[in-house]
Amino acid sequence: MIARIAVLGGDGIGPEVVREGAAVLLAVAAKGGHRFELTEALVGGAAIDSTGQPLPEATLALCRSSDAILFGAIGGPKWGPSAPVRPEQGLLALRRELGLFANLRPVTVNPRLAAASPLKAELLAGVDLLVVRELTGGIYFGEKTRTATSASDLCSYSAGEIERVVRVAGKLALGRRKKITSVDKANVLETSRLWREVAERVVKAEFPDCQLEHQLVDSCAMQLVRRPADFDVLVTENMFGDILTDEASVLAGSIGLLPSASLGAGGNGLYEPIHGSAPDIAGRGIANPYGTIMSVAMLLRHSLGLEAEAAAVERAVNAAVAECVLTPDLGGTATTGEAGAAVVRALERASPTP
Ligand code: NAD
Ligand code: IPM
Ligand code: MN
Repeated sequence: MIARIAVLGGDGIGPEVVREGAAVLLAVAAKGGHRFELTEALVGGAAIDSTGQPLPEATLALCRSSDAILFGAIGGPKWGPSAPVRPEQGLLALRRELGLFANLRPVTVNPRLAAASPLKAELLAGVDLLVVRELTGGIYFGEKTRTATSASDLCSYSAGEIERVVRVAGKLALGRRKKITSVDKANVLETSRLWREVAERVVKAEFPDCQLEHQLVDSCAMQLVRRPADFDVLVTENMFGDILTDEASVLAGSIGLLPSASLGAGGNGLYEPIHGSAPDIAGRGIANPYGTIMSVAMLLRHSLGLEAEAAAVERAVNAAVAECVLTPDLGGTATTGEAGAAVVRALERASPTP
């Protein structure tokens, strides 16, 4: 197949990990006889420095005309958080402009990496959960006000925005253990009371085979580390999903391991690790690229329909982990480049994908 893929490295470790993701894409293409046309573009702080805008028109146009977007990370101390124009605005605008309302963040624990997590290994056995985070609404996108002495951020949701993301979670739950945990703060927030009602209605009417439970977000944050293996699909609003998934990355062993897919009504999705630009380690060549490479697997699966290739990439990451090619966040000494190369090698020696 021929596919056009926009490659947006961004800032800090973003370009470092995306380089390895792109190499894996090219290895998949070579092996399967596909043609992937990769085109790089500026976003975030790098784009502000060169154009004054965190999401230049040319980058948005490229993303619109691509089959998928591979994204690294944006942000850094050079640009904020109080600057008038900030890198984060570029990513938020991209999600919003492309209508990417559902952000899939899977969390699994590789038993070989259980020691990298501060949690007890017996709690981590069998962890396999998927957070479906609403991505284009809520407090991130409501009206903001600011004076010298006061500030406000409006959190609003429409029933339609909730319905469509719960529907994504329901469909995914059908292919898994059919258990949905809807996370809200319905004891305090009006948006959460609407969220709970709509989740209840959509799951009852459209996914009667799924079991639905509601959890308050504070308690959920606790249960995630107390009994993580009990969760299957979690569905939640934008900010709760942001926070809970950084927490959930501790189950896997490092935030550098977690991938994500941001999907909308069309096939054109954005794929990025859940971590940020990691200014504390940027430029040292030690960032973990596995979350980005697992995001490449999600890109192959969700935007290109290449399930066999996606599974092959996931197996190749597992093989690299089994060979103990681990970056320092996982207790190893491998560089970003060595970890990426180990995945490419594992892919190349695996039997051909059908
Ligand atoms: P961060 O995720 O960048 O880093 C948190 C910690 O995790 C740091 O110690 C970092 O070194 C470590 N870490 C992150 N990714 C890693 C990897 N791949 N390998 C090894 N270690 C890794 O979060 P932060 O420091 O709070 O944010 C830094 C900047 O990134 C901020 O400007 C923030 O807005 C931005 N950010 C961007 C995205 C994104 O582009 N999607 C996501 C989160 C944060
Ligand atoms: C993420 C990040 C972003 C978010 C920031 C950088 C806008 O934390 O992708 O998780 O909050 O969504
Ligand atoms: Mn985040």
